[in-house]
Amino acid sequence: IETPRAVIVIFGATGDLANRKLYPSLYRLYRNHKLSQHFAVVGVARRPLTNEDFRNNVKKSIESFKDDHVDHDEFASHFHYNPFDAQDLSEYQKLDDFINKLNQKHEAKGNRLFYMAMAPNFFGPIAANLKSQGLTDNEGWSRLVIEKPFGHNYETAQQLNDQIGQAFTEDQIYRIDHYLGKQMVQNIEIARFANAMFEPLWNNQYIANVQVTSSEVLGVEERGRYYDGSGALRDMVQNHMLQMVSLIAMEPPAKLHPDEVRYEKVKVLRSLREIDESNVDDYFVRGQYDQGQINGKQAASYRESNGVEADSNTETFVAGKFMIDNFRWVGVPFYIRTGKRMKQKLTEIVIQFKDLPINLYKDKGDTIDPNLLIIRVQPDEGITMHLNAKKTDYDTTSTQITMHYDKADEGIESPEAYEVLLNDCLNGDSTSFVHSDEVALSWKFIDVISQAWSAKQADFPNYKSGDNGPDAANELLAKDGFHWWDIN
Ligand code: BG6
Repeated sequence: IETPRAVIVIFGATGDLANRKLYPSLYRLYRNHKLSQHFAVVGVARRPLTNEDFRNNVKKSIESFKDDHVDHDEFASHFHYNPFDAQDLSEYQKLDDFINKLNQKHEAKGNRLFYMAMAPNFFGPIAANLKSQGLTDNEGWSRLVIEKPFGHNYETAQQLNDQIGQAFTEDQIYRIDHYLGKQMVQNIEIARFANAMFEPLWNNQYIANVQVTSSEVLGVEERGRYYDGSGALRDMVQNHMLQMVSLIAMEPPAKLHPDEVRYEKVKVLRSLREIDESNVDDYFVRGQYDQGQINGKQAASYRESNGVEADSNTETFVAGKFMIDNFRWVGVPFYIRTGKRMKQKLTEIVIQFKDLPINLYKDKGDTIDPNLLIIRVQPDEGITMHLNAKKTDYDTTSTQITMHYDKADEGIESPEAYEVLLNDCLNGDSTSFVHSDEVALSWKFIDVISQAWSAKQADFPNYKSGDNGPDAANELLAKDGFHWWDIN
């Protein structure tokens, strides 16, 4: 198979994302022969660096791979630095020439990937300049990669979309949601559509509810300034949580084509039961962490963090219930829960199946727990089924057992989300990237909640660091007769 050829232009080349995620991911692709000699990276940023400085930074970012038997200098020799003032139009021409030169040297077929690893207010203007200055009139393909936040609400998301849409067509735009690159998130699709055991049961006749949890132990750390203007609803729910819900709920696509898969996800978002300000509280719960014990140490409250207002009304926790009013799902609650400073770092999907019509073992005093299918996304990756089986005894009584698949047992290291997504983008596969319709519909839904919440001061803080959110998150399920399955 031919490996992709391209000149990759990274805007924000000295930033955190580039150093922490992009360079190591490119390295792993290179090491795993997904990239050949035919690629070059142009690092673009304001800071005046020499090529040598830049390559040293790149090598530093891949230091942990030193036992790989791959020549790090050779890998770094693909990287070139181009100091850049994004507002100065004359610099775009120079950048164009530079890309052309590298294209020739690396025989990259005129392909260009523009990766915006920088603050989102630059996305629109840079995209427009790339077009007006002729950088998108190249011989091969050109693609634009951007990262969330895609706007702050529906309106600003549309503005951003219009701006970049003037320079790149929808099929050239790759919007990253890094959860879509996680191995077990990608496994939702395979588990559903490659197993005769699950798909026939995947509906409101057999499933009682779905629970998606993504909890973190870390607080806002050094991101207080950004986070305080955003909150968990925008930071996690609008994107990662809704993406996971869409993958669990979507209809089987006609084919595994990016348009088909994304169309099915869009249909889920269109089927979400609308809520309004008057009933937001029936569906969504917010929380903010207080001080508390984390790993035996006293941790500060959210309001004490750097860059956070002392009376901040920003939520660091959200629990919610989505109802998907279509034939398959009507009546089945999809609960989500995400927050900072919770008990453990964990992303997990629990599918709770309905109870059987009768418990034959009741007279023997046995309760029958519902069957659960658990997809563990992180930190460990696996699939677990909770079943009932015969107790080891003289009598026929039942007990709960688990069947467990642990991905680590395969002995193959899982690729990083960014590595998977970069590879897809270089190969022109946009299936695991977010379509503009998904962005628009998810914001429309989320905006109602954020408007209701900003209009009313919350009783914050309302959960201790180290707890799994406020009590109201448990009540949300209890009023439907359910509870969170906290499985370790
Ligand atoms: C990011 C959010 O999108 O996802 C962060 O901005 C959050 O606030 C992170 O910590 C969680 O990602 P992961 O991969 O660690 O679950």
